[in-house]
Amino acid sequence: MPESRVNARSDATAGGTRKKSPPRQHAAGLDSAIKLFEQAARTVPLPAAPYPIVIADYGAGSGHNSMRPIAAAVAALRGRTRPAQCVLVTHTDTAENDFTTMFRGLAEDPESYLRKDSATFTSAVGRSFYTQILPSNAVHLGWSAWALVRLGTVPMPIGDHIAVAYSGDDRTRAAYARQAAHDWHEFVAFRGRELSPGGRLVVMTMALGDDGDFGYRPLFDAVMDTLQELVAERVVSADEVKRMTLPIVGRRAADFAAPFAPSGRFEKLSISHLEVFDAEDVIFGQYRKDKNADAFGTRWADFCRFTALDDLADALGDDPERRLQFFERMHAGIAARLAAAPEQMRIPVAQLVLEKRQSG
Ligand SMILES: C[S@@+](CC[C@H](N)C(=O)[O-])C[C@H]1O[C@@H](n2cnc3c(N)ncnc32)[C@H](O)[C@@H]1O
Repeated sequence: MPESRVNARSDATAGGTRKKSPPRQHAAGLDSAIKLFEQAARTVPLPAAPYPIVIADYGAGSGHNSMRPIAAAVAALRGRTRPAQCVLVTHTDTAENDFTTMFRGLAEDPESYLRKDSATFTSAVGRSFYTQILPSNAVHLGWSAWALVRLGTVPMPIGDHIAVAYSGDDRTRAAYARQAAHDWHEFVAFRGRELSPGGRLVVMTMALGDDGDFGYRPLFDAVMDTLQELVAERVVSADEVKRMTLPIVGRRAADFAAPFAPSGRFEKLSISHLEVFDAEDVIFGQYRKDKNADAFGTRWADFCRFTALDDLADALGDDPERRLQFFERMHAGIAARLAAAPEQMRIPVAQLVLEKRQSG
């Protein structure tokens, strides 16, 4: 089967309608990753003034969730620099990303580093991070959240599920695992070039638990069940559902460490922090407080619309009315199923800090 390039999606549009900021669940694990980023900002070697300090945000999307971590890193840097030393932030994503929305948010949102520190500057790169996209030795601090989950290339449609983690087909699982290993290797290799000597990169992405669990089971069950309902009602065909594929993978701790074996170094990088843990399900936390099952279902359905439905709708072609109907039915079906039996979602997350050697 021919390989198909993945158009990494912007998180700014869905179903032809503009979306606002990412849903709350997208911030799972953010606080602890921000602490790692602040720690990196406190210790990374800095250029002497007047040269700018460069922060790169890999897979920025709308930029909304990057504001807090970057503002925190800038505040930590300010403990070491004069207020006038410039910080240049570069937000990277694929060319399809809605950079207009991103720049607007960065200019207007009170959480934005631009509003908090007058010596910060913003810029963007519209290219895949599976290649070198910034000059060698130019980046002092790197940040990447919830972006590496997405493969650069889809090996094949999955067929028996929308997510390879839940496929029963060994050949398909092996092909996706090879692609995931390749993508991680490339991502690390190119960041190894871009980071300055002593530079640090904080990565947060979806993971597999030690038991191989990708998590989000009740959500995936609700999606698969709703799809079956739509097939029964001839809203979509069984063939279309077979083609629906999410180009996403989780990785185990060992998968993240693989490019660094056996020496512990790769492209002058080493891992100074690697942790896989179950992040808090903030939507279930909210449900515990308000006992509002409908809101629980709707929040998860919103999350799904934001992160997955565009990819699934690709199997339906370009007819905007069909796509809209699909979005509405999926959202309602997922929300109703989850509201009927609210359950905590397991959310395996990986957090890493990579550090570049200072010299040689
Ligand atoms: C789910 S959003 C996360 C956005 C933001 N980092 C956050 O924490 O909410 C994932 C983003 O990664 C981007 N992305 C995925 N693959 C990419 C690639 N190969 N190169 C650059 N960006 C990519 C997507 O376009 C999308 O904007």
